[in-house]
Amino acid sequence: MIEVKELSVSYTGDKTNTRVLNNINLRLNKGEIVAIIGPSGCGKSTLINCMSGILGSYEGTITIDEESLNPKQHSIGLIPQNYGLLSWKNVYDNATLSLKIKKKNNISQEYKVFIDNILESLSLKPLLKRFPNELSGGQKQRVSIARAFIMKPDLLLMDEPFSALDALTREDTQELFLQLWKSYRPTTMFITHSIEEAVYLGGKIIILSSSPSSIVKIIDNPLFGMRNFKDKNEYLDTTSLIRKIIKEGWK
Ligand SMILES: Nc1ncnc2c1ncn2[C@@H]1O[C@H](COP(=O)(O)OP(=O)(O)O)[C@@H](O)[C@H]1O
Ligand SMILES: [Mg+2]
Repeated sequence: MIEVKELSVSYTGDKTNTRVLNNINLRLNKGEIVAIIGPSGCGKSTLINCMSGILGSYEGTITIDEESLNPKQHSIGLIPQNYGLLSWKNVYDNATLSLKIKKKNNISQEYKVFIDNILESLSLKPLLKRFPNELSGGQKQRVSIARAFIMKPDLLLMDEPFSALDALTREDTQELFLQLWKSYRPTTMFITHSIEEAVYLGGKIIILSSSPSSIVKIIDNPLFGMRNFKDKNEYLDTTSLIRKIIKEGWK
């Protein structure tokens, strides 16, 4: 279980001190997937940066199974907005980056099969020798997803993972991601500014207010994983509830 308690973050400049996150409390149960939705600039990336260990100066606590978050000890998968691929490494080496420390020729047969399954289910097998500049946005995204799953993370964080993709590629990639997520169920938190994406991929949806942001509402999402619901009343009820909360919280 991941717990964020009384998390507050301020950015200080020469003469400024801007509070971005204000007393965030949230909990992710093991194997849960949570969507965070909030207006632009409210501090969503800041929250993810705290949870991934990139940003260490915050008030409050972040724990994984009751131990203080420690990026050296815990394995945290991060899918950043720009995919985060290393331009000088090919697809296979990017996808298996987390194994570099463990020496690739020492990995077990079982792990090799696992890696192969991930690469196969993301249709990356024909692309393994290519470099990032030879890939489309959707393909880069799939490599980034493969890399995160291959490290078997204690916590998977994704910062607006699908927002740079065109609409059709986005739907395909979301679907591939969801299938993979259902197979391995890493504890996941992702950021989005799309209500549709939050409703499709978020088991729970957490709505943040504008900056300095705090949590406005946590919704148990009855529509998780459902795609063909556009004209169903439940979909309309859920999305209009979210819209209403957003309207009140995003002033
Ligand atoms: N390193 C930083 N130093 C100072 N201000 C920052 C820094 N990073 C982000 N900010 C500011 O903090 C606010 C929240 O940023 P961010 O977390 O990126 O928001 P979001 O991801 O929700 O768009 C913004 O106003 C942004 O300009
Ligand atoms: Mg951001």
